[in-house]
Amino acid sequence: MNAVAAMAELRARPCAGRWQTQPYRETLALKNSRSVLLRPAHHRDAAALQRFFAALSPRSRLLRFHGALNRLPDTAAQRMSTQVPARHVALVALADEGELAAEARYAIDNEGAAEFGIAVGDGWQGQGLGRALLLRLAVHASDSGIAALRGSVLPGNEPMLALMRSLGAELRSSGAEIHGTIALRELAAA
Ligand SMILES: CC(C)(COP(=O)(O)OP(=O)(O)OC[C@H]1O[C@@H](n2cnc3c(N)ncnc32)[C@H](O)[C@@H]1OP(=O)(O)O)[C@@H](O)C(=O)NCCC(=O)NCCS
Repeated sequence: MNAVAAMAELRARPCAGRWQTQPYRETLALKNSRSVLLRPAHHRDAAALQRFFAALSPRSRLLRFHGALNRLPDTAAQRMSTQVPARHVALVALADEGELAAEARYAIDNEGAAEFGIAVGDGWQGQGLGRALLLRLAVHASDSGIAALRGSVLPGNEPMLALMRSLGAELRSSGAEIHGTIALRELAAA
């Protein structure tokens, strides 16, 4: 399904993408038939978020943070697991055992631009989870009146670049990074 159709389909559901105003829980079936539970992040997730990042491969951590980071500091874990209306929106995907399989978020900076971040656990990659999370962030941001989602990608991160291209992102090389901008109005126009 293309991204425009996927956004329209998500919007038609009762609560997808609107997790700050309604209780949001969604069981998502992945390509390999495993499933995860999607829900908003909660401040009680801070320790699980630290375990999740500690368990990522060094390459995935590098791709997520664009630098070496062995341990997510407590303050960052608290910040990343706290929803701040109109400023920070965060989703987690939980495996059966209650551990995190993925995290995704967007934050609004002082200029009003929305920057996303996302990481899927190594054992969960390539199963459609990253795409599902980014689409849900896009629906949420679009419904919140945000015009574009931005993300910085390291060259060689083919899954992320493919994902951004499939959402119609404009990609621009800048120094050691590729800056991508997903225009939400165009995606939501259908
Ligand atoms: C990048 C990342 C979020 C993608 O999530 P994912 O669940 O692995 O990816 P998906 O299964 O949803 O696939 C996303 C796209 O990548 C493509 N893809 C998947 N694996 C691929 C690979 N090894 N090479 C090239 N493309 C690939 C898929 O075909 C899909 O394209 P589509 O949207 O056009 O169908 C995930 O791999 C990850 O967390 N990586 C480490 C951290 C990171 O890079 N974060 C992003 C920082 S900007």
